[in-house]
Order: sequence, then structure tokens, then C-alpha cells
Amino acid sequence: MKVTYYGQSCVEFEFNGTKVLLDPFIRYNSLAQDIDVNSLRPDYIFLSHCHQDHVADMEVIQKNSGATVAAIVETASWVRKQGVPEDKVIEYNFGGTLSLPFGKVKMVYALHTSSTPEGDYAGVPVGYVFFVGEKKIYFAGDTGLTFEMKLLEDLELDWAFLPIGGHYTMDVDDAIKAAKFVNCKKVIGIHYNTFPPIAIDTKEALEKFETNGLSLFLPAIGETISL
Ligand code: NI
Ligand code: MN
Repeated sequence: MKVTYYGQSCVEFEFNGTKVLLDPFIRYNSLAQDIDVNSLRPDYIFLSHCHQDHVADMEVIQKNSGATVAAIVETASWVRKQGVPEDKVIEYNFGGTLSLPFGKVKMVYALHTSSTPEGDYAGVPVGYVFFVGEKKIYFAGDTGLTFEMKLLEDLELDWAFLPIGGHYTMDVDDAIKAAKFVNCKKVIGIHYNTFPPIAIDTKEALEKFETNGLSLFLPAIGETISL
């Protein structure tokens, strides 16, 4: 089981041969210019919400791969409007859990806003919990710190993907609180350094997590790590 980081909040899991891509945003990310978007062939694409920096490459990657795209109802309806066939779209909503061949995926709360790249209504943002084999992985999407994260504390998560860039989401200090709320010591930082407002001091971030008894992982863009 492994994950590759593609910048911003875009990650691709490999779960026993099944590739699951989240929040594709590569061609418009100046930090991810070494990644060839046309090389990606996921089996599934999950979208946390419909902001441009989470969906910009959904259409091209879906066309190349035939991936099934999963999202909250209103974002899923935007996905269909981009020409993704009905049988390749899974819509669901908070509290729901998908049972897929590779494992289960629960949709959980996120505190943020959402709209399509065209500025239209797209429902609300979400996070996901992946249950794959013995592993439990939380992908927070874009979110501020919220007390609802406490609802995940008894899951005994193995990994948490948390935004750390601030400005549009939690910053490093709130992400540390979030890691404690969800009761997960191993955090992979996302949603930082892509644009000036979310630039952070990564060395300081790593030290702050360590001081709090937590481990922050910041894979380079294109780097794959084992989960
Ligand atoms: Ni957003
Ligand atoms: Mn974002």
C-alpha cells in the first residue's frame, strides 16, 4: 500500500493494485510541471469539493483512464456536465460509505466552501476515510479546524492527510490540533506552498509536529511513500 504526492492536495493511493486519485490539480500547478498528467491511469478519482485547485485535471485524467469519479451529489452533477458518463460517476453524501472492490470509503465532514470553476453551486466540501485491509486513512480535503474531527478519534487511524497551508484552510498549528482530535500521529501535509498565500516554513512545521509528539511527512512532488 503506497501513496504518491502530486502537489497541492492531489495524491494517488495504490491499494493492492487499485489506483485511487484524489483532487487532481497538476497542469495548472507551477510546482508540478515535471508530472505528466497523461501518464496517470487511476481506477477511481475522488473529489473533496469542486474548487479549481481540486478538480482542474479531473476531465483529462478520466478520459485517459476511464476512471470512476466519486463525489458529493452536487459536485458529481458538475462531473457529469464535463462529459463523464453516468455509469462512471458515483454520487453520495455525508455519513455514506461506499463498498468498492478495494475497500470502503466513508464521506465525512469538512469545514470549507465549494463552487464549480465556473462559479456555480457545487454543494459543500467533504473529507473521506478509506478503510483498506487493516489500514484506515483520513483525507481531510480543504477544511478549517472543526470539532467534528473528534468523531473520528476512536477509529485508530493509521494516517491523516491534513491541509497545513493556512489562509484557505487550517494552518500548521490547527493541523496539530486536528491530528490530536482525530487521534492520529502520522500526518501527511497537503495544500501548502502552491501559491504565495499558503506558503509555509516547512522546517518549522516539521519541528512543531515533532514537539507535539506527532510525525509530519512532506513528500516531494512525484515522490511515493509506503503507507
Ligand atoms: Ni477549496
Ligand atoms: Mn483548495
